[in-house]
Amino acid sequence: MINLKTNQSIYNKAFISQEQKMVNAVKLLQNRVGEGSDFLGWMDLPLETSEKLLEDIIHTANTLRKKSDCVVVVGIGGSYLGARAVVSALSDNFSDKKPQLIYAGHHLSEDYYADLLEYLSKINYSIIVISKSGTTTEPAVAFRLLKQHCEQKYGVSEAKSRIVCVTDAKKGVLKEISLQEGYISYDIPDDVGGRFSVFTPVGLLPIAVAGFDIKELLLGAETMRKQLINSDQNSAVQYALLRNYFLSLGKNTEVLSAFEPKLHYLIEWWKQLFGESEGKNGKGLFPAGMIFTTDLHSLGQYMQDGQRLMFETFLTVSSSCKKCVVPFLENDNDKLNFLADKKISEINNAAKEATMMAHHQGGVPVLELILEKLDEKNIGSLLYFFEYACAVSAYMLGVNPFDQPGVEAYKKNMFNLLGKPGT
Ligand code: PA5
Repeated sequence: MINLKTNQSIYNKAFISQEQKMVNAVKLLQNRVGEGSDFLGWMDLPLETSEKLLEDIIHTANTLRKKSDCVVVVGIGGSYLGARAVVSALSDNFSDKKPQLIYAGHHLSEDYYADLLEYLSKINYSIIVISKSGTTTEPAVAFRLLKQHCEQKYGVSEAKSRIVCVTDAKKGVLKEISLQEGYISYDIPDDVGGRFSVFTPVGLLPIAVAGFDIKELLLGAETMRKQLINSDQNSAVQYALLRNYFLSLGKNTEVLSAFEPKLHYLIEWWKQLFGESEGKNGKGLFPAGMIFTTDLHSLGQYMQDGQRLMFETFLTVSSSCKKCVVPFLENDNDKLNFLADKKISEINNAAKEATMMAHHQGGVPVLELILEKLDEKNIGSLLYFFEYACAVSAYMLGVNPFDQPGVEAYKKNMFNLLGKPGT
């Protein structure tokens, strides 16, 4: 379902030394003995998520769908990007489908919140608030605003039926609020960290609310899980190996490039997954993303000809979901008849092949990850593929993939500046 291709021919000392690290990293992961191994719950989610939980999530999603023109999903980082990645990848580009999903809690823009509250005054809405710790400032501030707005608009009792929490099973302010108010609440397993939580209610509930098939998503993840655990030399491991090999050659940045704009948020999710998992102790590849051909007309020049800092992974979708063909024009006044009757995807594919060739010739090592099509099953496989590759890759670097101590630094300064009690 997912193919990894490279046109690099490699078998040298540097590669062999990375291969040894890869073998050790895979052992750490598969035997569950590496650093942070108490956060490996994500590995089993596709197999172990019960039908009962899935049915419950679908039921809640349908209840919210019925009463809402819009559902506001509140969360940040791993409590936000997985759902957004899947929903964006699967949604039509221009859709008046209801409910519309709106995101909040992922920044602190005053204008955004003023606009959002004004907008919500005019439509029917519900809220899903997601935070594992239950104490993260951005979603907490957003939820305070939205809860008050919702209660004022609908009354406290109706607001209760329009708010759903996804948080820790036992602790945190959000858990306390959900118990006090009697909200429907879903637990995030203790052994699953934020950026690995897309297959828990963190991702599944908003994805179901958006009308997508979460059982298929998990089936895709399970198909990939089986492939990966049954072979030590699988494509995710090869991807982790090649990333570390390129890093050892001084390529400090990986650019994930896609020719499909619907993958923008999937790239954002990938950036968080790898950036937060690997970027510690002065190590790690810098994860960057581009959408082509758009960015070929902005960063393409740098990719071709600037500092040789990066390697590039092309995330390709083999077939588009819909059809759109360039029409033939009798007078050919725009001189485009050489493209007449071609599907836009054929032109896009030529652009991709041309770009891969050009970047390779320009000194950027190139990999390609090929996804059959954008549907729930393939996306589920892809997300699991990246999670697995990320864990292996981080162990190869010698870092704990599952913590994020660096995120605390800005929070500490911000709380000092804002005079938070106890800081
Ligand atoms: O991957 C992570 O752990 C983080 O990105 C968190 O998901 C993010 O900081 C949000 O945390 P929380 O869910 O506790 O609000």
